Amino acid sequence: MRPTLLPLQVLLSIFAPTLRQRFEENAIWEKEYPEISRAISPNDRRECHQQFKDLKDPQLHWDLIGLTIDQRLIRLGYPVERINVTTEDGYILGLYRIPFSPKSPIVEGIVKKAVILYHGLMANGLSFLLQDGSRNLAMLLADSGFDVYIANARGNSYSEGHVNPDMTLDNWEYWDFSFHEVGIFDLPAIIETVTDITKQESMYYVGHSMGSTTLAVLLSERPEYNRRIATAFLLAPAIFLGHSWLYAQPFIKSVNYYQYTFNNFFAGRLEGEILPELLVGSVPATRCSIEEYACGICSNLFFRQFGYDGPQINYTKIGQFLEVYPVTSSSKAMLHFFQLIKTNKFCQYDDGFNEPRYSQRSPSCYNLENIFSPLLIFWGSNDSTVKPQDVAKTVSHIPKTALKENIKVDSKYFIHMDFVFAKDADILVYKRIVDVMLNATYG
Ligand SMILES: *[C@@H]1O[C@H](CO)[C@@H](O)[C@H](O)[C@H]1NC(C)=O
Ligand SMILES: *[C@@H]1O[C@H](CO)[C@@H](O)[C@H](O)[C@H]1NC(C)=O
Ligand SMILES: *[C@@H]1O[C@H](CO)[C@@H](O)[C@H](O)[C@H]1NC(C)=O
Ligand SMILES: *[C@@H]1O[C@H](CO)[C@@H](O)[C@H](O)[C@H]1NC(C)=O
Repeated sequence: MRPTLLPLQVLLSIFAPTLRQRFEENAIWEKEYPEISRAISPNDRRECHQQFKDLKDPQLHWDLIGLTIDQRLIRLGYPVERINVTTEDGYILGLYRIPFSPKSPIVEGIVKKAVILYHGLMANGLSFLLQDGSRNLAMLLADSGFDVYIANARGNSYSEGHVNPDMTLDNWEYWDFSFHEVGIFDLPAIIETVTDITKQESMYYVGHSMGSTTLAVLLSERPEYNRRIATAFLLAPAIFLGHSWLYAQPFIKSVNYYQYTFNNFFAGRLEGEILPELLVGSVPATRCSIEEYACGICSNLFFRQFGYDGPQINYTKIGQFLEVYPVTSSSKAMLHFFQLIKTNKFCQYDDGFNEPRYSQRSPSCYNLENIFSPLLIFWGSNDSTVKPQDVAKTVSHIPKTALKENIKVDSKYFIHMDFVFAKDADILVYKRIVDVMLNATYG
C-alpha cells in the first residue's frame, strides 16, 4: 500500500469493526436503507451451504483464486494472447485475445468475426470470466466461433503502462482521466488494433455498465467510429443516472463541496481493493471462497453493495467476484459518475463544479443523436445502479434507427452485477447476444 493511503487505512481500520458488524447485522441496514433492505435469509443461507456441498470440482474452486486473465484461461484449457495497445495519449493497455477455442478450432477459409468485451467501473476484464461453461461470456463466444478481445481500461492492473517513463502510477497526472478519455482514446486504439490483426473493418462490442458509457462517448464524440461497430450490446448502460444509488445520493449530491479534496486525498487513484479487504478482514478472494464466510458476511456484503438477487447468485463464486469488484480506478472517473447522478445529464467532466459562480462555461454534453451503430440494450428490473427509469431516458435519447432492441431481462430480481454473475446469465442474456451475432441480424 502507498504511504499516501496511510490516513485512509488508519481511518478505515478504526471504523472497519463497526462496518463489519453492520454487514453482519441485517436489522440496522433494513431500517436505514430500505432500498437494499434484503440480506441473506435463512433460506438463502441453506441454499448457500447446499451449493458448497454440490461443488463438482473443489480443486478447481481453489485453483482459480488469484489467477490473472491469461492464467485463468490457460487453466481452463483456452488459448490466450496478450496484445499491448498504445493510445494516442500514450497509455499502454493490456488486450487479451482468445483466438479460437477447443470447441471451435481454426478452420482454413472460415473467418472468425471479432468481438470486444468491455468491463465496468472499478473492474477489469476478468468480469467476463467469472463463471464456468456457458455462463462465461468470453469462453462462450470463443466456443461459438468468435475471435474474442477482452479489454482493460487504463489504470487497472492489466493496463498500467505509459510510453512516458515519468507517467508512473505514483504520478498524479497519470490518473487524470475519466471514462471520457477511455471512450475517445482507449476504444479507438483497441478498435484499430483489432482491425490490424483481423483485417476486419467492423466488429461486435459487448459493454457492461461503464463499458457501455465509454462506447456511447466514442460514438457521440467520434461518429466516424459508428461504422466500425457491427452491433453493440449494452448491458445495464450507465448513461443517464439520475436515480442511481438512491441511498447514497445525499453524499453524491454534495460532490461540489468535496470534489478537490476527494481527488487530492487519493492523489487521483482510487484503490478499490482496500474496502472489501478491510470489511472481510483478510484477502476477500480467499476468505470469501470458504463456505463459512461465503454464507455469512461475504454474501451480505455482496447483497448490500450490489442489491439482492438470491435466486441468481452462485455463492461459491463470491470470493472470486470480490477479486474483480472493486479494483483500482481513477478517482476522477468516480467523480464523473457522481456528476452524472447529480445533474441527471450525460455530459463531460465539469472541472468548475466546485464554483459554479466562476464557471463561465458548462461542459459540453454528449450528443447521443450521433449514434447510428445498431444497438441492443439489456437492463434488469432490480438494478439499483442503472435504474429502469434512467434506462428509459437513455432509450429516448438514442435515435430509433440505431436502437434495435430494448430488452428487460426476464428475471424477477435481476441486478447490475447479474450480467456477469447470474446463474442463468447464459439463458437470460447471452443466448440472445450469440444468436444475433451468429445470424448477423443487424450487421
Ligand atoms: C506488454 O506489456 C507488458 C507490461 O508492460 C510487458 O511485460 C510485455 O512484455 C509486453 N508485451 C509485448 C508483446 O510487448
Ligand atoms: C457455481 O459455480 C461452481 C464453480 O465454482 C459450479 O461448479 C456450480 O455448478 C455452480 N453452481 C450453481 C448452482 O450454478
Ligand atoms: C428489488 O425487488 C424487491 C422485491 O421485488 C423490491 O422490494 C425492491 O424495491 C427492488 N429494488 C430495486 C432497486 O428495484
Ligand atoms: C438465429 O436466431 C434464431 C432465433 O432468433 C436462433 O434460433 C437460431 O439458432 C439462430 N441461428 C444461428 C445460426 O445461431
